[in-house]
Amino acid sequence: MKTLVLYYSNTGNNAWLSRKIAETLGADIEPVAPRLNLLPLLILFSLLKFSPGIKNPFHHVEEYDTVILCGPIWMGQLIFPLRTYIKKYKTRMKKMYFATCCGGGDDTKDDKFGYGGVFNQVRQLAGDTCVHCEAFSIGLVLPEEKRKDTDAMMKVRLSEETFKGEFKTKFDEFISKLRR
Ligand SMILES: Cc1cc2nc3c(=O)[nH]c(=O)nc-3n(C[C@H](O)[C@H](O)[C@H](O)COP(=O)(O)O)c2cc1C
Repeated sequence: MKTLVLYYSNTGNNAWLSRKIAETLGADIEPVAPRLNLLPLLILFSLLKFSPGIKNPFHHVEEYDTVILCGPIWMGQLIFPLRTYIKKYKTRMKKMYFATCCGGGDDTKDDKFGYGGVFNQVRQLAGDTCVHCEAFSIGLVLPEEKRKDTDAMMKVRLSEETFKGEFKTKFDEFISKLRR
């Protein structure tokens, strides 16, 4: 099975997660690069559901059996580089998975800023091409008592040291789904 991992990451968590997925599966990997890489604009365009341009990708998506798109959630939205990618390439993708390393957990997934709404946006855009969406809450690498501490959450950076416990279990389950 030929797999391509595509990601956008601002502070590195989704880059780390993407590299780990690619390394585990022996997949190709590439960042999705917006033409305008200014964080406030990226957030604004994501909020407004605009789909401005992204740089032409190096890998040809039609050559892959499975594509995994990975990126953060901002303000309860699907980030625009991934939105643009899905809109532009969905007809050339055979099978797509969406993964996010985000701030919110399962208990808030249906809230305004939860990942549930983003999964709906992905499914609406990609249709049947999207076979599964997975959220890796950054809180999973924090001790139980710090999981509601927004400051602590925003400071977490994924690394080999944090790759254990509930986060690793979730990762292993995701990889099993991909290998099925
Ligand atoms: C401006 C901003 C808005 C965010 N909004 C949300 C949100 O609505 N829901 C959520 O679950 N996480 C939210 N987060 C947390 C990020 O999704 C989380 O920190 C993620 O791991 C960052 O990924 P990155 O390191 O790959 O950029 C937000 C972070 C920032 C900086």
